[in-house]
Amino acid sequence: MKSKSTVILLFIFFLLTSKNLSPQSAKTIEQRVDSVLALMTQEEKIGQLVQFTGDWDTGTHSTEPKAGKRELVSEGKIGSFLNIFGADMTRGLQKIAVEKSRLKIPLIFGLDVIHGFRTTFPVPIAEASSWEPALVEKSARMQAIEVSASGINWTFNPMVDIARDPRWGRIVEGSGEDPVLGAAMAVARVKGYQGNDLSANNTIAACLKHFAGYGGAEGGRDYNTVDFSERTFREVYLKPFKAAVDAGAATLMASFNEIGGVPSSANHQLLTKILRDEWKFDGFVVSDWNSIGELIPHGVARDLKQAAELALNAGLDMDMESNAYTKHLSELLAEGKVSGKTLDESVRRILRIKFRLGLFDDPFKYCDAEREKKTILSKEMKDAAHEVATKAIVLLKNENGFLPLNKETKKIAVIGPLANSTADPLGPWNQQGDAKDVVSVLQGIKNKCGDKAKILYEEGCSIAGKETDGFGKAIQAAKEADVVVLVVGESLDMSGEARARATLDLPGVQEELAKEIYKTGKPIVAVLMNGRPLTINWLNEHAAAILETWFLGIRTGDAIADVLFGDVNPSGKLPVTFPKYVGQVPMYYNHKNTGRPYDPKNNYTSYYADYDNSPLYPFGYGLSYTKFVYDDLKLSSKKISKTESLKISIEVKNNGSYDGEEVVQLYIRDLVGSVTRPVKELKSFQKIFLKKDETKKVEFTLTDEDLKFYNLDMNFVSEPGMFKVFVGTNSVECLEDEFELIN
Ligand code: NOJ
Repeated sequence: MKSKSTVILLFIFFLLTSKNLSPQSAKTIEQRVDSVLALMTQEEKIGQLVQFTGDWDTGTHSTEPKAGKRELVSEGKIGSFLNIFGADMTRGLQKIAVEKSRLKIPLIFGLDVIHGFRTTFPVPIAEASSWEPALVEKSARMQAIEVSASGINWTFNPMVDIARDPRWGRIVEGSGEDPVLGAAMAVARVKGYQGNDLSANNTIAACLKHFAGYGGAEGGRDYNTVDFSERTFREVYLKPFKAAVDAGAATLMASFNEIGGVPSSANHQLLTKILRDEWKFDGFVVSDWNSIGELIPHGVARDLKQAAELALNAGLDMDMESNAYTKHLSELLAEGKVSGKTLDESVRRILRIKFRLGLFDDPFKYCDAEREKKTILSKEMKDAAHEVATKAIVLLKNENGFLPLNKETKKIAVIGPLANSTADPLGPWNQQGDAKDVVSVLQGIKNKCGDKAKILYEEGCSIAGKETDGFGKAIQAAKEADVVVLVVGESLDMSGEARARATLDLPGVQEELAKEIYKTGKPIVAVLMNGRPLTINWLNEHAAAILETWFLGIRTGDAIADVLFGDVNPSGKLPVTFPKYVGQVPMYYNHKNTGRPYDPKNNYTSYYADYDNSPLYPFGYGLSYTKFVYDDLKLSSKKISKTESLKISIEVKNNGSYDGEEVVQLYIRDLVGSVTRPVKELKSFQKIFLKKDETKKVEFTLTDEDLKFYNLDMNFVSEPGMFKVFVGTNSVECLEDEFELIN
């Protein structure tokens, strides 16, 4: 028999969850959250903090829950699943949650949709190479539309970790080395996933990860120790997180790493003081996979019970796969080591997001098998993937305008281990990508040329093997052809999680193959497919042209052929520095000057004695088939006060023979500060389109906000003094001027 008070509470709950109460107003959501919370038992509260995977990690890649999990859902002991999708599968589980569990609280289904679900878009670092936030937002929007049709309402993306070390395999998942570009991409993705209305049936909650500092792993080795100053942490690594929190990101994921001795999953300073108290974030934080359990090997918890205590008290709301909260929270509450208030706060944050997603109003809105059938891999999806892929390509070299290839070229040899690959273009962290949907480079070229050109194909060698038996046939094909398109790089599983590399060379014998082909005298167009900057000095010297294509997804071949034959003029720019040698890393453009900056005339300065200090390709670098000329840099004033803004303009002329897009980049340098400042800092950028012979005036505005940094006392301020302004086509080739900030 239900007690009288329970009946009253259930009645209030019914009222507050009913649709007639303008369900999405913030006030109503808070009232509804409280009404649900008031009804929950301690066990049910703990249940909301628990997330389990589907049967995916056993190697079956099934989307089924593991044995016994359905029963736990009906008992209200699971709040979320990951790696379970499909309209019917999620509907079945949601039905158990909302029909069998006592309080009918819907489940939230999370998945790593990093660059697409079934329709694979370019990997994130490739999308960032577009320097086009609106395009990246569109990509995320499409991904949300597709995956939400398959029952998913939460993606573990965007990954907004700044990465200054290309040895780190996860550099592929982010937007590179710069905090301003990274913030722009982070915000674009959050907007794309979440749309204007998180409660719509085709928008999904974003999850900023990995909070925080994960990209700073020592030596670029995944999961490794991170230790940097609070200033660098806040100015560089936290900046994209803060921007995306301000843009309304619903959730964050705590990272695996420690910073200065404190693993993120136990970091109260990070998860509560910075995130909640300073930034006013009111969504929830999920752990990374077993990251609560990993507090034991980190050496801050003696057992799983203490790990649970540290994590919840730090502000970590949901436990992904550690089993720490399920097993130990009741006991910790009984012992007073975790307070009921802390538990309630975490539950409240999770319920809030479930309400914002509209799950209490319609728990099945993502589970529509009809929509799923129509949406997945639709023409609209594939076209969008194609468009984004063309914009992600970066032209690294183009000797004497060798590209675009003449469409009348008679014989083309397409050579290399990645030339006909349909699996690798999907890249790491592709979700349900299927090689049979992928257009390879070879196929893309064949489609483009039809029967106008003879296309010869040879693999030449494997990606990482040592065998050279294939060289003979590849050399023969090169000899017969007018031009060689050489497709080399990394396999899809050489970057991504746990894929650090100690070298950045082309793996295996690929460079040897390139050298043999070069001996034929035939011009080489190198097409790179890879998840990180590579040290390709030889190719840079000898190839006629080089395209950085990263991993472009299902329309790889079409996008590359568009660029090779000039239907698309490449406009991508590198979001990360390419070093010449692995020994130069970490190498990033926004470094400090040091007390002894490199001076070739002075031995005792900061440089490598065996090689040089310059990168192979600097941050922001990328060519076009046309030529852009910069002129007439103007500042609205030579002096501004802190309340004034500075207008900066520059004229960009398309002086070449093609229409094209250019990313105009604005950097500053604060010449003297109470603490040292980087030699250059990107502050703004604009992508413009110029017809052949057209000139455009590009205008930027800098405000006091752009000049701020963390001073000696860790206050975020600007300081009066001289600043340099640089505007140009990359972080090195710029026009420059100066201005003074006065009080
Ligand atoms: C571990 C990864 O670090 C994280 O990025 C991912 O979201 C989770 N596993 C879930 O798959």
